[in-house]
Amino acid sequence: MQSFRSVYRNPAIEVVLVGAVALQIYSGLTFVVRGWKQRQGLMPWLQAGSGAYLAFFFLNHVGAVLFGRFVLNLDTNFYFAAAGFYVPPFQLFFAPYYFLAVLTLFTHLGCALYWKLHAKSQAARVAAAALPASVGFVVSLLIVLSLAGVFYPVQVPPEYKAVYGKHP
Ligand code: HEM
Repeated sequence: MQSFRSVYRNPAIEVVLVGAVALQIYSGLTFVVRGWKQRQGLMPWLQAGSGAYLAFFFLNHVGAVLFGRFVLNLDTNFYFAAAGFYVPPFQLFFAPYYFLAVLTLFTHLGCALYWKLHAKSQAARVAAAALPASVGFVVSLLIVLSLAGVFYPVQVPPEYKAVYGKHP
């Protein structure tokens, strides 16, 4: 993250990135609402459901990161992301919140592959969606477990826990 910051925190690039996130939320939610009545079957609903969750996550996540950085003046690093896991009961929110974010991202990409392969057999199309979703499940689990301190001890500095009302 430290090395990539010089790229995505470059003001010109960051404005485009945040603009792209806003556009993605707007266009995604428009698709979800517009196709509501015609949508039938598992794949269209999986695509719409994963997209809707991603829109919710994007709004919260990028909003929280910008708030943490510009209002709370925190370095929005690993500790910022992990802090909620160490102030009960916020882990009950953050574990599924992050888990679903990464899982739905991979699932949503899998759904796109499913529609791209419409000339192929149904089994090939289902596999094209299921494979990224399965990879997403494993990646998601590993990220959440590492944030929760399962693989190595995580000592979250008090200023990050204070965000959740925990004062030293
Ligand atoms: C468990 C999953 C995730 C964690 C722990 C996480 C953590 C973080 C952290 C710490 C930052 C702040 C970076 C900085 O200040 O330099 C950040 C920013 C961001 N994240 Fe995530 N993230 C996760 C998932 C995602 C996903 C799934 C997406 C998109 C699909 C995403 C999109 C973004 C964006 C757009 C920013 C703003 C970058 C900027 O400030 O310009 N994140 N994330």
